[in-house]
Amino acid sequence: MATLENGGSDVIPDPSMNDVISSGDVSEELLPVVAGLTSPRKHVPHWYLYDTRGSELYETLVHNSRTYKLWEHEYSLLKTHGDEISSKISSPAVLVELGSGASSKTRLIIEAMLKRHGNFTFVPVDIAKEFIEDCGRELESEYPGLSVEPFGGLYMDGIRHVAARPEAKMLLFLGSSFSNVAITDQLKMMTDIRMQLGAQDRFVLGLDMNTDPEALSKAYDAQWSPWLRDNLICRLNQDFGGDMKKEKFEYSFDFVENPADGDTPSYIQLSLSSKGNQRVHFEKPLLDIDFQDGQKLYLSEGLNYSCKWNMKQLRHLAKRSGFTLEAHWINNENTYCIVCFSPADNITTSA
Ligand SMILES: C[S@@+](CC[C@H](N)C(=O)[O-])C[C@H]1O[C@@H](n2cnc3c(N)ncnc32)[C@H](O)[C@@H]1O
Repeated sequence: MATLENGGSDVIPDPSMNDVISSGDVSEELLPVVAGLTSPRKHVPHWYLYDTRGSELYETLVHNSRTYKLWEHEYSLLKTHGDEISSKISSPAVLVELGSGASSKTRLIIEAMLKRHGNFTFVPVDIAKEFIEDCGRELESEYPGLSVEPFGGLYMDGIRHVAARPEAKMLLFLGSSFSNVAITDQLKMMTDIRMQLGAQDRFVLGLDMNTDPEALSKAYDAQWSPWLRDNLICRLNQDFGGDMKKEKFEYSFDFVENPADGDTPSYIQLSLSSKGNQRVHFEKPLLDIDFQDGQKLYLSEGLNYSCKWNMKQLRHLAKRSGFTLEAHWINNENTYCIVCFSPADNITTSA
């Protein structure tokens, strides 16, 4: 059995670990989760938070929270500027949404696009396959003229899946979901997306700009525990035959503030902290993981869970990845923005 010790650089090199992980005990898509649990910085990949139940909990929490205002801010920007956003591409058009989830705010863009472009196809792309298939059926029944073709999988696979379509593409990335991509991977992802888009396509992102520590401490408080602790632990136990106990972990967050005039955005880190020293046992693969008191299991593969941007940083990112910031819309409180990136003529990108 691969036994992992606690704290710091805590992976004991154990040849049997590789045997166990590649033995077929674990499906290929879950290997990154095992790798995260057994890495020196214990973590689960961000996408792992979104099984069907996780997606439902996320949607309920963001919709009803009184202190996490992101849904509300983005909804009101889309309501005010939906027509203008949909006018950024010509007909015939296809709408592709990365990390679509429940697509609850996307309805505003769907309505604006139906008005402007007539019948069109919507391709929601999300790791939570069954969840978006259910949402897609609902949308199709509600909007005559809308054809929904869900793609269950990772972001870039979804983009490659639609790349050859002849219609002008509106690529939507709402809910500040791009902010959850590891900072170290963001430029590459933007550049890869740029390479898949043509001059007629647009990339529209909703991004959080709130860096007020007091507001953030209310926004990221314990209201998220049912999703980020209870459901996650339930999923880990189910997927890997584990005996992890939710009462023995505490949900917590940190705000890492970076200089506003620098290129790196500030960000939130989310984690579960171990209450006391404990050993968690998993059956598939056979694995014991030791946690010291206070040791964290991070809820993202990168340092950041959610980045908090400013316009200078977004312009800089666009430029380096071969995009031009064609338009942007910011709310009155200056806490949320929607940006429209168009492919720059010159696609030379810089690191
Ligand atoms: C923050 S939620 C946003 C949901 C919705 N767009 C909204 O604005 O409310 C992020 C969504 O992205 C999906 N997701 C996260 N990582 C992903 C990945 N690497 N590839 C595909 N989908 C992913 C999740 O399943 C989830 O539905």
